[in-house]
Amino acid sequence: MKYQASPKYFVPRGTDDLLPGEVEKWQWMEETARKICRLYGFREIRTPLFEHTEIYQRGVGEATDIVEKEMYSFHDRGERALTLRPEGTAGVVRSFVEKKVFADPQPTKWYYIGPMFRYENPQAGRRRQFHQFGVEVFGSADPALDAEVIALGMHFYQALGLEDVRVEINSVGDQETRERYRKRLIDYFEPVKDSLSKEARERLYKNPLRILDSKDPKTKEIAMEAPSILDDLSEPARQHFEQVKSYLDALEIPYVINDRLVRGLDYYTHTAFEFMVDVAGAQAGTIGGGGRYNGLVEEFGGPEMPGFGFGIGLERVLLALEEQKVEIPVQKGIDCYLITIGEKAKTAGVKWLKALREAGIAADQDYLGRKMKAQFKAADRSHARFAAILGEDELEQGKINVKHLGSGEQETIELEQLIPYIKANIRRR
Ligand code: HAM
Repeated sequence: MKYQASPKYFVPRGTDDLLPGEVEKWQWMEETARKICRLYGFREIRTPLFEHTEIYQRGVGEATDIVEKEMYSFHDRGERALTLRPEGTAGVVRSFVEKKVFADPQPTKWYYIGPMFRYENPQAGRRRQFHQFGVEVFGSADPALDAEVIALGMHFYQALGLEDVRVEINSVGDQETRERYRKRLIDYFEPVKDSLSKEARERLYKNPLRILDSKDPKTKEIAMEAPSILDDLSEPARQHFEQVKSYLDALEIPYVINDRLVRGLDYYTHTAFEFMVDVAGAQAGTIGGGGRYNGLVEEFGGPEMPGFGFGIGLERVLLALEEQKVEIPVQKGIDCYLITIGEKAKTAGVKWLKALREAGIAADQDYLGRKMKAQFKAADRSHARFAAILGEDELEQGKINVKHLGSGEQETIELEQLIPYIKANIRRR
């Protein structure tokens, strides 16, 4: 190939172009998400792609990987500290409080689909711009709701045809639980402090729970033997967790309890969970995660009001679908490719093209002045179901040739019948 863009004109590292052919898969995932959300009474919310940086510092937590090293933060020309959203929950909670939606009858059930940004080490399923389908529910502390939201996620995967999705679940308890557990963790890690990673040491007093989430191998090994938060659950937290499990049982959703699962964000209380699937290429296994966040609405200046939600990573879902060889319905072609021969036919053709489209028939024609044979080739390339061939003779007689490109069958019909003919046949086939 003679022409080649210079690397300085490539997409930024960790981001992707979605070209036609690929983008239809995304539309299908998004449509499926919308359909499932409708079934569960969720409505869409759209918040800005950037927020004041403080939203994430407060919401996600200062001593998290996201806030410490993964945010795309910048100052705008008005010296405002802003950040491209690394996740959806904090912005949605900000909106819920700012727009006083808490004053409406509850619960509020919202969903969103869109890009998120994290400065991570890019690989398959780990991108710097990635896309989440997320849901958030406000105003109910009912453990049945935890189970329902997990069920919604499972329903989404199932509707896509994804198999063998596992749910890993834990409880990070309430404040009383975490105060107790925090002390126990510090007692456990303090004597082996010197063997921990630098980051874990820094977090030991600030946020020891985070150490359980460490990626450093030695720290991970030590964390494996750390005490279990489940032994420290307060009575209300224990009861909540028990009920969530029994609702999941009732819904026949299989789950595994993982008492090391603390998630990478600080806002969780009680239930924390992840959706996992086996995909070659280690990082892609966690295809979603979420949990309860009962203090976050208050954190942003709202009343005491519980929340629960998840975020599903759509890049990872797509990788898993491809790994499982799930056939993705991609509608490729148009209905009718109009081939014209001669200038008069071309002028008439332009009008017919307009009429076809107005009748709801996807149609196209040649714009490169090609000969008939090349126009047929273009019709094939456009995956059209029919080619309609209009020459000057046909035009004079008020007729047109219609060819079904799949079977090669061809017939001459009245030009006036073109639209009803194509309509009837695309329905029939
Ligand atoms: P999260 O676990 O940080 O949670 O992200 C949710 C999902 O997004 C992950 O399980 C993963 O599938 C996907 N994901 C995360 N980072 C990347 C990346 N760099 N590239 C590709 N996919 C990625 C949250 O974001 C919470 N807001 C979820 C939530 C909603 N909790 C309550 N409500």
